[in-house]
Amino acid sequence: MSEPTKAPAKPKAVRKRKRTSNPPINIREMELRDIPAVFALGQRLFTAEKWPTLYRSWDEHELLQLFGTDEETCLVAESEGLVAGFALGRMMDKPRSAWRYGWLLWLGVDPTFKRRGIASRLIKQITERFIDREARIMLVDTDEDNEEALAFFRRHGFGQELRHVYLSENLEDHPYYREKKAEAKG
Ligand SMILES: CC(C)(COP(=O)(O)OP(=O)(O)OC[C@H]1O[C@@H](n2cnc3c(N)ncnc32)[C@H](O)[C@@H]1OP(=O)(O)O)[C@@H](O)C(=O)NCCC(=O)NCCS
Repeated sequence: MSEPTKAPAKPKAVRKRKRTSNPPINIREMELRDIPAVFALGQRLFTAEKWPTLYRSWDEHELLQLFGTDEETCLVAESEGLVAGFALGRMMDKPRSAWRYGWLLWLGVDPTFKRRGIASRLIKQITERFIDREARIMLVDTDEDNEEALAFFRRHGFGQELRHVYLSENLEDHPYYREKKAEAKG
């Protein structure tokens, strides 16, 4: 008896993977016209409930001021005319010290653009700009519960973590505050 002959295997259909190509992202210096969009994105990211300290210090005037003094270390990631992210920093000199610092004050990426390497591109560019300006140390800071930011910074080689505690007092309970309020009322 001859062995049953196997039917020749059908050639496998080659399935083409559907490619969802993301629009290109351009990293560039922030311009005056970007400020409202950058501010609005920051307000979405740094909410009072999530990060009270970031929320308190995220301020449009400070943003404008930083842009005025440190334009070259204020970067945005742009996608099809939209601000997808930002990295805002400044140089810091200490009098009588040989050390120059580059301080990354604010970093944010629109949630719809997360985990696409945008913050990595922003931090790479801002780091190079700090080095061009002779920074020898770069500083970043964030809330100690901000796991995603900490994971991001650690991934990019930041360490030597120091804890810093913010304390606050409600000044409306301060005797001088009350005194002034009472005076104003007459
Ligand atoms: C932190 C933040 C800037 C990261 O932006 P991003 O564009 O998503 O980051 P990237 O895609 O470049 O991530 C690079 C790497 O960082 C790490 N990382 C980033 N987000 C992470 C997350 N949510 N959880 C764990 N690791 C994360 C990963 O190692 C990641 O690499 P992988 O995607 O290959 O795993 C963004 O999540 C953000 O805007 N957060 C809110 C604002 C904020 O907290 N800013 C920092 C303090 S000012």
